[in-house]
Amino acid sequence: MTAIEHTQKPAGAPSRAHASGDNRFKILEATMKRHQYQPDALIEVLHKAQELFGYLSADLLITIARSLKLPPSRVYGVATFYHFFSLAPQGEHSCAVCLGTACYVKGAAALLAAVEHEAGVKAGATTPDNKLSLMTARCLGACGIAPAVVVDGEVAGHVTAETLVEQVREMLQKTMNDER
Ligand code: FES
Repeated sequence: MTAIEHTQKPAGAPSRAHASGDNRFKILEATMKRHQYQPDALIEVLHKAQELFGYLSADLLITIARSLKLPPSRVYGVATFYHFFSLAPQGEHSCAVCLGTACYVKGAAALLAAVEHEAGVKAGATTPDNKLSLMTARCLGACGIAPAVVVDGEVAGHVTAETLVEQVREMLQKTMNDER
């Protein structure tokens, strides 16, 4: 078995990706359900969506608008008003390390520390050259393959610090090579 097992999932894909098995949509759905799809829950739902997907894509905003029965313009308005929401991936690459309980007990903190060290940025930040945004999440809905991460929109499980650091290194290296 490879150290990193990929499951499907395009980041910010529309709700029809539910059928693809992307658990993040299920988690988002559960969050909205918990709030009984009340429009008042919009900010909390947007927070959850950003935590899960790294940023709020147009498809994601429309999905949320539909579910909460809000005009898309209202959802866009709120998402653009608050500085902590991002409508686009910040770095060219993104890496989100899950720090939820299942992942934490499987060494997620060490994973995060290893990536922080390799990339030279802290969680929540983007490298100065804008190549990599490093994020954390509370649960990606992939506890069965903990520790889990999302790298460039791909959920990966059973991740080791060595493989993740190598992946990040290759990603940054590739970007540097591409510029030459
Ligand atoms: S705690 Fe990490 S995927 Fe659930």
